[in-house]
Order: sequence, then C-alpha cells, then structure tokens
Amino acid sequence: MRRTTEGRRDEPQGTLWWHDAVFYQVYVRSFADFNGDGVGDLEGLRTRLGYLELLGVDALWLTPFYPSPMADHGYDIADPREVDPTYGSLGDFDALVADAHSRDIKITIDLVPNHTSNTHEWFRSAMAAAPGSAERERYLFRDGKGESGQEPPNNWVSAFGGPAWTRVPDGQWYLHLFAPQQPDLNWVNPEVRADFERTLRFWLDRGVDGFRIDVAHGMAKPPGLPDMDPRVSALSSGDYGDPRFDNDGVHEIHQLIRKVLDEYPQTMAVGEIWVADELRLARYLRPDELHLAFNFRLVLTHFDADALRTTIDRSLAVPMATGAPATWTLANHDVWRQVSRYGGGAQGVRRARAMAVVELALPGAVYLYNGEELGLANVDMPAEAMADPRARTSGPEYGRDVSRVPLPWEGDEPPFGFSRTTRTWLPMPAEWAPLTVEKQLEDETSTLSLYRRAVELRQKHPAFSGDELEWYGAPAGCFAFRRKAGGLVCALNTSASPITLPPGEVLLSSSPLEDGKLPPDAAAWLV
Ligand code: NOJ
Repeated sequence: MRRTTEGRRDEPQGTLWWHDAVFYQVYVRSFADFNGDGVGDLEGLRTRLGYLELLGVDALWLTPFYPSPMADHGYDIADPREVDPTYGSLGDFDALVADAHSRDIKITIDLVPNHTSNTHEWFRSAMAAAPGSAERERYLFRDGKGESGQEPPNNWVSAFGGPAWTRVPDGQWYLHLFAPQQPDLNWVNPEVRADFERTLRFWLDRGVDGFRIDVAHGMAKPPGLPDMDPRVSALSSGDYGDPRFDNDGVHEIHQLIRKVLDEYPQTMAVGEIWVADELRLARYLRPDELHLAFNFRLVLTHFDADALRTTIDRSLAVPMATGAPATWTLANHDVWRQVSRYGGGAQGVRRARAMAVVELALPGAVYLYNGEELGLANVDMPAEAMADPRARTSGPEYGRDVSRVPLPWEGDEPPFGFSRTTRTWLPMPAEWAPLTVEKQLEDETSTLSLYRRAVELRQKHPAFSGDELEWYGAPAGCFAFRRKAGGLVCALNTSASPITLPPGEVLLSSSPLEDGKLPPDAAAWLV
C-alpha cells in the first residue's frame, strides 16, 4: 500500500512519503552521459527518468554534483551551492527536479558537512592567513607536537589510510578524516553552521525533497582531540569508542539541520552513520534529529539465514526504539556489489536476487544502488585505472571503483549507450552485453524484471502493510517471516537443498520453483 502505513509517533499517520519508500541511488558520474565526455551528468539522468519511472522507484538520491576537483569524486566540494560543469548547470538541475516531480519521483541530494575541498575559497584563504586567524578557525588547524612541532597533533588516522593530519608550510597541521584534499570543518565555529544552513535553504528553495548527509556521525570532534586507541584501524570508522566519530556534540548539529527542514513540509534527511551500537544509532533518530539513518547491517552480513535473521531483528530494534522507519540497503558506491560479495558468477546473481526479494519484503525505507537491478557484479580493473583515493592510500584491494563502473543501457558493445565516447571515465566490460537495460527489459526472467515486479507488488499489494514481523519455524539454513498486519510471507533458502514452502499463494520468487519447492539460493513471497 503506497504511502499509507504508520508514521512517526508524533506525526499524523500516512503523511510521510519516505516511510516505506524505495529510494534509488544515482551515482551521477556513472548513470548516463549526455554531453559525450565519458562522465555521467544531470541532463543524462533527466533523459533516463522514464526508465526510473518504469522501475517504479519513489525517490532518487543523487551523489554530489557540485564543483569539485574530484579528489574523492565529488565528496571534496569546492562550492556547495553550484553545479560542476562536468555535470551541467543549475538550470539542468532545476529541469531535472521539475521533470522528476512531474513523474512523481522525489529528488534527494547528498550534502557533505564534515569537510570541504582544499580548493574551497575558505581553505585557500586559510592557507594564505596566519596561524590563529579567523580564516584558520573555520577548519581544524593545530600546532604539532615535538620540539619544533614536527609531529602531528594526535595519532588519528584517516579513514582512507595514512595520517589524518597534513602539515602546511608555516608548520601548523590541519585535520582531515578522509583525504588530505578534504580538510575537516570546525563545527564549533558559528560561521560554519550558518553557511551550512544557507546551503540547506539554497537547495530546499530549488525544490529538493531531502538530503543524504555524508559522514553524519563525524562533524563534532571531542574537546582537546585526544589520541585514538591504536587498535582502531583506519578503515573501521564508526565504532563506538573511536574519538573521531559519534561524539555527543554531533546531535546538536542534527537538531540545527532538522529545524531548517521542519520549515519545509514533507522534506527529510537520512544520515550516513557507521555506528554499530543500536542504542547509539537510535540517538540520531530522536524526534528533533534525522528522519532516517542508514543501517549497513545487511551489507555486512553474509548469505546465511541465521545471520540474516539476527541482522533483521537487530535492525528492527532501532525503529522499535525510536518510532522512525527502518532503512535497508544491500549496496552503495563505497562497498562491493552484492553479486560479488555473495561469491560472484551465477550463484552470486541468484543470491543477490534472493536478497532483493528479502529486502523489498521488509517494512521501512529501502535504498537501491544503481546497477543492482541489472545484477551487475564488481568489475576487475588494473590498479592504474582506479581513481579512488582509498586505492592509493590503502591499496588497490580497497579501491571502490570496482562498483562504480558506468551503467550499460543498450547495444552490444561498450559504452552500451552510456555515452557517445568509448573513453568512459572507467572502462566498461564487453561481458556486460547480455546485461543491458534494453536486453533485460525484454526478458521476463531478467533481474531487472524481478526488481520491477517486486517494487510494484511492494507498493500496491495490501500484504505489505504494517511495521511488525513475526518469524516462523524453518528448516536449517532457511527462514520465513510474516508481515504481521498485511500478512505477506517471505521465505529464504540459504541451504543446499530445495525446501517446502509455507502454505499460501506464491506471489513472486527469485528463482523458478522446482517441483513446487524453493531451490537453494532463492527467496519467495507468499500470501
Ligand atoms: C562517505 C561517502 O559515501 C564516500 O564515498 C566518501 O569517500 C566519504 N564519505 C568522504 O566524504
């Protein structure tokens, strides 16, 4: 039932469009290239909105499209209130919003409050100014340790690997939790807060429906910037106890953001929050903070029914404690594609299809990552082809470009209608020929057809209503849950043998049934 389930306790029922929405993450660089430079752009996305309407998604999340030297593909922003010429213009953005709205698709965009680019005018003027100046106070400049300040102010490491501090010519150091080209802002400074508020209003006034807040657990730093426990690794950001993230001061910043959003009815914010502890995570969802918090548990759980059941139960503890909707995601631009995580090949695809059926059965908001609906896997690429800063600092095995390759739309060879040039920003594999949107739309058994049917059923069928689940007993390696109010049953088989399904009419299955049984690596819906 589209948009008619319960809302937050303090809101009237049935008014919150995001409560059970299907969001679709558009990695703008890789979605569709209109101007032929090999990089996706806003106009390319606009020309493909018909596809997204067909897929049936409720809302888009656009990755950053702001002016940027692209040290971290746009998460290093030089001006948060403009469009990078690579991606188009503000006029293109306005046209995109208008067109999407006319198709009943909401637009949400990425904001990056934790840091700017080192080419942002604020950072340039901080570099030109003296230690202790107002210009430096917008960032986290500190004197170093040691006799001549030759050692960094503390032992923090960057989430991309390597030290979190870089020294400038006059001897001071500045903090960057990510790449050196992404200096962290000083959120204690009222100017930083005021500027972010301006950015929120700038885009809200242009009609956006919401935001994805990057590193939403990162903006507040602990007083005195104490050393971190050296056992915390660079790449395991977000653990409770890591002084770089999830400091209590961050909540006041979310309250500030929420105050602005509350002035714009029906707008929302979702936080990227790598915090494992459910009680800590729930704090971000208090009624005066974020509307949604990403929950990465499904990304981190392997294909095993018991482990997945625990993940689902733990994830549901957060909405139960807060009244905010659950959120689910199997992939994004920072992690391996699920087909590869589940072992790759035909089995990886079967498992990924099964997990899409599980995910889309769950109550709450679902975030899909562009290309997962085509069953795409990671793309092997030589280290030289990788542009991700994490590949350089932590090693090619940590490079995220493998899941960011441009999408295959049509035709039999690269660039598959993504662009007019074959020189796409990341090379596209010839093996994707059978996986184009064009081919999959024509094939009822394709992964795209499965996603289309699943999204449509989820939105229209009354069996999907209500927020609570109950579990059935199931054979080893399997699970079955039921949406309590609507009655939808979802069964998953991660065992090696076919299983008998619970009673009911089969609405959908991720793989064909075998003699009426659910085969291994498959999931089904029943009513
Ligand atoms: C999270 C983003 O998803 C990731 O791509 C980026 O590198 C970091 N935040 C830093 O902004």
